[in-house]
Amino acid sequence: MEPSNTVLPKLIESQLRQAILETFPDADPSLIQLQICTNPKFGDYQCTSVMAIAKQRKTNPRECAQQVLERLDLSDIAEELQLAGPGFINIRLKQSAVQSALLQAARSGSHFVARTSTPITSVIDFSSPNVAKPMHVGHIRSTILGDCLARILRFLGHNVITDNHIGDWGTQFGKLLIGWKHHLDRSALEADALGELERLYRKINADCEENEAVLESARQELVKLQKGDQENLDIWKEMQELSKKQFETVYNRLDIRFDHTLGESFYNDQLQDVVKDLSEKNIATESQGAKVVFFEDVEALKDHPALILKSDGGANYTTTDLATLDYRLETWKPDEIVYVTDGRQQLHFKQLFEIFGRWKPEAKVKLRHTWFGSILGPDGKPFKTRSGDTVKLNDLLDEAEERALKAVREKNPDLDQDAAKEIARILGIGAIKYADLLPNRQTDYVFDWDKLLSLSGNTAPYLQYACTRIRSIFRKANLDETTFLDSLGEDAAFELKLDSDFENKLARHLIHFSQVLDSVLEDHRPNYLCNYLYELAGHYTSFYENCPVLKSEGDVKTTRLVLCSLTRQVLAKGLSLLGIETPEMM
Ligand code: ARG
Repeated sequence: MEPSNTVLPKLIESQLRQAILETFPDADPSLIQLQICTNPKFGDYQCTSVMAIAKQRKTNPRECAQQVLERLDLSDIAEELQLAGPGFINIRLKQSAVQSALLQAARSGSHFVARTSTPITSVIDFSSPNVAKPMHVGHIRSTILGDCLARILRFLGHNVITDNHIGDWGTQFGKLLIGWKHHLDRSALEADALGELERLYRKINADCEENEAVLESARQELVKLQKGDQENLDIWKEMQELSKKQFETVYNRLDIRFDHTLGESFYNDQLQDVVKDLSEKNIATESQGAKVVFFEDVEALKDHPALILKSDGGANYTTTDLATLDYRLETWKPDEIVYVTDGRQQLHFKQLFEIFGRWKPEAKVKLRHTWFGSILGPDGKPFKTRSGDTVKLNDLLDEAEERALKAVREKNPDLDQDAAKEIARILGIGAIKYADLLPNRQTDYVFDWDKLLSLSGNTAPYLQYACTRIRSIFRKANLDETTFLDSLGEDAAFELKLDSDFENKLARHLIHFSQVLDSVLEDHRPNYLCNYLYELAGHYTSFYENCPVLKSEGDVKTTRLVLCSLTRQVLAKGLSLLGIETPEMM
């Protein structure tokens, strides 16, 4: 990867930072940012940070920006800097700088991205399904979103620890134990373990509603388990194994790995200490036999005290999360911990973060709850199967691959069976992931098979197809892309020159890539990356329609082939950061 002083927006950003901090030594460095100019009329990049700094100092923003400009010398890489509006600084890259950035990226394979000079340690808690329940469509968003964030952070050189906080301990096991002991169908268990566990759970749940005695015996089984009864522990362990095996199948299909899978049960023997400590520090108080944390001074939580010990002596989800936090802090010393869950857990995390702030006021870790909305069916209601059941993830992935296979066969009937299946796998899984990452994460989205598998519009197949089309240009030119790129390093006489507007727009868009990745990480919004890639494909299409590649000659042809290759590389890298593969051909 490139050093940051050769990636243009990074170079500008660091010069800007230096000029701003020299002018205003007490300015908050985190306020200093470089944005992509949304209207190219004004330039390629824009910095509005001086306005925020001026506001803090209660001084005139235009004058502040003027002072910064006096210290900022970007003459090697930018046209004359413009002071605009109430105090923006607009920056337009010089043509010569764009050209040498392209050549450098082509020679180095850097994708216009530099490793961060300030790596952080980030713990990402995502996916986290519950044992003995099949993973369903609700878990897909956490899984895909968390994985995408981990991939981008790693690519930029941060230290990432992924932890699957599975729900392997909880009240559901009381009911499951009764079901297992009295109604287990072994052959059904062998055929579809989680299906059978789900059946048992539902049966006992229904029985409990009708019959108080069943509920009571479920409670007793749970207490026995918690006290370490051997028989119950053995059954519990078997349920763990069966569930984990099924989770693994899904994770393999989605190409997702975890560094750790420390489920809730891992923290069991720390829970009482947490409760004790919180009580001794007067953070938790006794209320009707339970231990509770009240938040009278926090407006949003005033009416929502958090229970950390029930009156029967049992700890709960919040207690476990507190112990988990403590463990992560001690073990990994992270700069941030990210929790990726459904929006319905917002209150839980607000409480958790607030309690933690009181419990460990000296801790500097940044806690982030990255939440998302639901997936809806075509009727606008939560996505269900035709019979009204929750959609199981494995079934969803099967259907995606089947539908993609049909499309691949129609398009390319001569392809042999295995090749067609492999392409369909890549397309099907990619389409599901992309459809999930494209909408703003906090809005609900409607799941639509036809739309997400379509070869046109803002979809994964469209972007994958753009990549394969570029590959075929190299095939038609009788060139091996890698050899071609290598040869650029040897050809000192070659001059890369962008003549047309189409080439220029495409080139400048490519150079934006690193800023887009930063903006994704800022608020955990992969949709920015999706839209960037879609726009990139659009710029590429205009370029390709207006600037003949194979029919041109000499340096013009080489320049255009470089643009083709760089576009393909950024598209493929962008997709891979979303967790999506690109087939060689389609
Ligand atoms: N198992 C939980 C669920 O399915 C999600 C856990 C999220 N992580 C956490 N540390 N609370 O809802």
